[in-house]
Amino acid sequence: MQATPLAGIILAAGKGTRMKSDLAKGLHPVCGLPMVELVVRAMREAGVERPIVVIGHGGEAMKQALGEDCDYAWQREQLGTGHAALMAAEFLAGYDGPVLVAPGDAPLLTGAALKRLAGYHRKMQAECTLASVELDDPTGYGRIVRDKLGLLTRIVEQKDAYEGVREIKEINVSVYCFDARTLFRLLPTLGKNNSQGEYYLTDVLAAIVKEGSHALVEKFEEPETFLGVNDRWQLAEADKALRRRILRKHALSGVTIRDPDTVMIGPDVSIGHDAIIEAGTTLGGKTEVGPGCRVGPYTIVDDSVLGRNCLVYMSRLSEARLGDEVKVGPFANLRPGCVLENRVKVGNFVEVKNSTIGEGAAASHLAYLGDTSVGPGTNVGAGTITCNYDGFAKHRTEIGANAFIGSNSTLVAPITIGDGALIAAGSVITRDVPADALGLGRAKQEVKENWAAQWRKRRKP
Ligand code: UD1
Ligand code: MG
Repeated sequence: MQATPLAGIILAAGKGTRMKSDLAKGLHPVCGLPMVELVVRAMREAGVERPIVVIGHGGEAMKQALGEDCDYAWQREQLGTGHAALMAAEFLAGYDGPVLVAPGDAPLLTGAALKRLAGYHRKMQAECTLASVELDDPTGYGRIVRDKLGLLTRIVEQKDAYEGVREIKEINVSVYCFDARTLFRLLPTLGKNNSQGEYYLTDVLAAIVKEGSHALVEKFEEPETFLGVNDRWQLAEADKALRRRILRKHALSGVTIRDPDTVMIGPDVSIGHDAIIEAGTTLGGKTEVGPGCRVGPYTIVDDSVLGRNCLVYMSRLSEARLGDEVKVGPFANLRPGCVLENRVKVGNFVEVKNSTIGEGAAASHLAYLGDTSVGPGTNVGAGTITCNYDGFAKHRTEIGANAFIGSNSTLVAPITIGDGALIAAGSVITRDVPADALGLGRAKQEVKENWAAQWRKRRKP
């Protein structure tokens, strides 16, 4: 059986003046994703295959952020929400099913809430069903005006509200399900005789009622789901609310979150059971944390994969892949392109970039490994530096298995150190060292007996 089609329109052309920003409102991130993308995801979860996004301010950037999987309707002039919805008409010509409409600035919207709205709408075979919530302080929102029987008569905007209406606590959250034909038949008939001189989408409901049909209201209990972001404080509140929702989901699936007020986990992060996420830790992008890992405190991980039982302590990881039981930190910096195989240890003040470190190898202190491959079982001593850049190009350092790089060695790339080779501490190595050889590249030590005592005698006044 084919699923009943469901269309969706996201209104995101407005400027968002109160954000006081050069960035279009819908592009401001909440938990690391642009708000409008979170609305797109909610639409998809509800069953909308290709949401239509109405764009205007920052439209090109929005298209780029959302990609090919949406349709875009331009609204060149922002003449109101009714006018914005009308811009989507060409994409739905001939479509006579239900269409969800939501604003691009409602980052906490869920697929479940939209599904529930569309489900009720279908069941009742309504012309329009809108979502409502009750707020203790409804200031700023459109109020839902009902008649004596409790049926919706119209929505009155805050700016147009008169005595008696201002006191209504039930508000329009700007999330609707319309019969598409009814919507596009009535939208062109709207006037803009209101305090803002705009075409109000809300007036479609009054028009439906005027024709003798019903506009239904589905009341939701959790206002947070519909939180609209108009300024940066609401942005901060939305971020916090979504963050808690994400943390709670992980906690309930077996992850210990040590201090929820300071931990940030993006919407696309997965974490295995019995992992512990410590205070002050941010996990972003498409990060995967394996079971039993302990990450943090004060750690930032982006777009990385951690195997089982890894320990990452006060460090930063970006685009890294860790095997099992890898230890990182404190104060390690894994820049993009690092692969650390099972049981590798990268310790304090070690920076690694675009490098592979083989199983069980260690760089425990104070090192830079760039464009390097380190074989399994090798020990990289404290203070080892790979000189991968000659001022023009980057070069590779290849170190074999079970090698020993003495402390404070400088490996000038391109260079190869063979399996089992030993580099004497303090060497500057500029030529390849074959397997099992000793590479020694430092000035020969001299010892002058009694020299210091005599020097002191000479200097004494
Ligand atoms: C709207 C509703 C109000 C509701 C509130 C909920 C109307 C007339 N009012 O008011 O009843 O309580 O949302 O948050 O609909 N947009 C466009 N083009 C435009 C104008 C707006 O794309 O010409 C987009 C905006 O980018 C935004 C959304 O529509 O994402 C809502 O617009 P906004 O100006 O925030 O409407 P409100 O005044 O909040
Ligand atoms: Mg708004």
